[in-house]
Amino acid sequence: MAESISITDNRTGETVEVPIEDGGVSADAWRKLLPGIWFHDPAFMATAGCTSAITYLDGDAGVLRYRGYPIEQLAEKSTYLEVAYLLLKGELPSKSELETWNDEIRFHTFEHENTKDFLKGFHYDAHPMGMLISTIAALSTFYPDAKLINDREVRAKQVTRLIAKMPTLAAGAHRHSVGMPFVYPDNSLDFPSNFLSMMWKVAEPHYEPDPVLSRALDVLFILHADHEQNCSTTAMRTVGSSHADPYSATAAAAAALYGPRHGGANEAVIRMLTDIGSIENVEPFIADVKAGKGRLQGFGHRVYKINDPRATIIKRTADEVFAVTGKNPLLDIALKLEEVALSDDYFVSRKLYPNVDFYSGLIYQAMGFPIEMFPVLFAIPRTSGWLAHYIEGLDRSSRIVRPRQLYDGESVRDYVAFDAR
Ligand code: ACO
Repeated sequence: MAESISITDNRTGETVEVPIEDGGVSADAWRKLLPGIWFHDPAFMATAGCTSAITYLDGDAGVLRYRGYPIEQLAEKSTYLEVAYLLLKGELPSKSELETWNDEIRFHTFEHENTKDFLKGFHYDAHPMGMLISTIAALSTFYPDAKLINDREVRAKQVTRLIAKMPTLAAGAHRHSVGMPFVYPDNSLDFPSNFLSMMWKVAEPHYEPDPVLSRALDVLFILHADHEQNCSTTAMRTVGSSHADPYSATAAAAAALYGPRHGGANEAVIRMLTDIGSIENVEPFIADVKAGKGRLQGFGHRVYKINDPRATIIKRTADEVFAVTGKNPLLDIALKLEEVALSDDYFVSRKLYPNVDFYSGLIYQAMGFPIEMFPVLFAIPRTSGWLAHYIEGLDRSSRIVRPRQLYDGESVRDYVAFDAR
């Protein structure tokens, strides 16, 4: 059996045979045979926008690997910063490489004092994700050398800065929204603990978070670090292809993450669970969803057609967190929703299973994060994945991303003067 497909232009009888390579066929052959005939695929349902060696995802089998390492092993044995190194550099660090990387990140956790003034300029009830997106973009004005995207050393510095400063900016956005003074990084703490300190520290000289909560946050960071060509990563690679600096590209990616269909889903889950209010209301809610009145938030995924492997790990993490914080009262509603949905043909036949966001919001809420912070919590670790793709995009492709369109508007017509309209 030939590992190829044939495309025939029935208007001319011309045929071209295209080899199937790495599970795909090159669009070049199509373009050469059919110039001016575009492949219509608005949501990229059947289009691979790039080649990539960062994350492997098999949605039918529920498999997720970073650089070949199963997500389950990384979530159990690794730390977020080690995973960020892996995503960016392709290999797990040696002990000394990890120590150096941790030190570099620590060194860059502080932000320019002007960044605080910038944050203070936002309205008191500004959404923290809006503040974060704008502040990331503003960082490009603090580091004009970031424009030197082909200088690998300079580029690596921006990567370190971005990964290190995300928790500082994220916590700053929260502190501003609650009218609390900003907390400086405490670099005696590890990455997640330092973030928790900047979030919650009040008057104590040293804030030491509960190690269970700190580790749970680190696991959530690992699970959210990358997910191949999702909406925000596609935005990152697209903006990067114009050779924008990494801060501007990361701001664009964060903006894509903000939407409720992507990184805003865990916020939507909590709002949904709160609206449902009690277990008795679960069945009528599911009936409404089936009747097309809204969606079951935290369910379904473009790629996973079986359990999202991250959701399985998160469920375990939730138990550990609730043992410290007490159970989130919305958990029972979530469990009931899952039970009802997974035994209902509507969801089963459409292969709709809980995704990463179905339970993550419950954990964040139990840990005390306001729901507006949920997409921000997603953006912190996803920054490492975005940057890995940004760099890979720059290194692998010299062309700007520029899809075509199928024009279906008016054909040519003459301008009409006002009095004739
Ligand atoms: N609740 C109810 N029905 C759903 C849901 C849902 N959550 N998701 C999909 N469906 C139904 C659709 O109505 C459609 O039914 P139909 O064939 O009868 O018209 C079918 O399942 C396919 O749905 P699509 O919208 O075509 O699936 P798509 O792959 O485009 O969307 C998405 C994926 C956006 C994640 C979708 O499942 C959704 O909106 N889920 C809820 C939001 C959410 O949890 N997002 C987080 C995703 S994970 C992440 O970004 C980290």
